[in-house]
Amino acid sequence: MYGKVIISGASGFIGGHLVRHFLAKGWTVIALVRVFPSKPLKDVEYRLYDLLQAPAVDLFREAAYFIHAAYLPNNFDCNVTGAKQLLACSRQASLRRNVFISSFSSSVDSESLYGRQKYAIEQLFCRDTDTIVRPGAVLGDGGLFSKMNAHIAAGKRIPLIQGGRQPMQTIAVDDLCLAIEHILLKDLSGVFSVAEPESLTYKEFFLLLAAMNSLSARFLKVPYRLLDMLLWVSESLGFHLPVGRENLRGLIALRYRETKGDLHRLGIVIKDCKASLEALFSNTK
Ligand SMILES: NC(=O)c1ccc[n+]([C@@H]2O[C@H](COP(=O)([O-])OP(=O)(O)OC[C@H]3O[C@@H](n4cnc5c(N)ncnc54)[C@H](OP(=O)(O)O)[C@@H]3O)[C@@H](O)[C@H]2O)c1
Repeated sequence: MYGKVIISGASGFIGGHLVRHFLAKGWTVIALVRVFPSKPLKDVEYRLYDLLQAPAVDLFREAAYFIHAAYLPNNFDCNVTGAKQLLACSRQASLRRNVFISSFSSSVDSESLYGRQKYAIEQLFCRDTDTIVRPGAVLGDGGLFSKMNAHIAAGKRIPLIQGGRQPMQTIAVDDLCLAIEHILLKDLSGVFSVAEPESLTYKEFFLLLAAMNSLSARFLKVPYRLLDMLLWVSESLGFHLPVGRENLRGLIALRYRETKGDLHRLGIVIKDCKASLEALFSNTK
């Protein structure tokens, strides 16, 4: 019998997959949510939690492992303070392990607020006893990927910055869940970058995604400065497009990350981008 795993952001894309993954593997799951779901999963215990408020002192009662997947977009301070309060609460309850879902973008001097915020939260976790997971682009039925896919499926043009040479390293959401399960099972601490070891370019990724949708990719070459300015104007006017300036900065900041060593330490083999997309599209047919 495994210990209980408590997951924040359980109503979200990655958190929701983690809840179902651990449940299917026989773990006992506690889901932290802002609102109780209208269709709760059988055998999952739901507890209310909001990053904007101090957690209840007994939020982590009976839990053994904490996975932090909650994220409030574009709010540096609340994400950092929320993570700090959760960690303090978890440490008080002496959990065996805290796992933070960070990102490939995490960097002290990242161009994007998102990347700097991930880095700031990572500093709260102890590399000797906690675990930081940095996933590449997560492929599945949610997150930024599903917005990109909806854009392509609607036949819209794909803006290409700097010729679309940015490196893309992906991981299917089911492989990410497996990686996290291995961290708990093997008691692994430290930082793990998890994504396919070989990168595609941003342009190659979209060519592949368009082909999966049985469409030809339609690209639009746009200078970075111009797109940044257009997004700034639209955001200043209160128009919230599916992709904003933060995403643009994140794209420009993309760097290749070595992942072979970390996947080896986890003892898993993950699908490459093509295989992940094929699995995803065959499931949705
Ligand atoms: N998707 C990717 O490709 C990707 C890649 C790398 C890293 N990540 C990281 O993985 C984490 C999860 O991402 P995701 O794609 O699953 O995002 P998501 O679908 O937007 O899920 C975010 C979750 O955070 C919850 N949340 C938002 N505001 C909250 C608040 N004030 N208090 C408590 N919970 C709150 C949401 O709850 P509600 O449902 O109530 O809004 C939701 O459950 C994020 O930290 C993200 O940066 C994602």
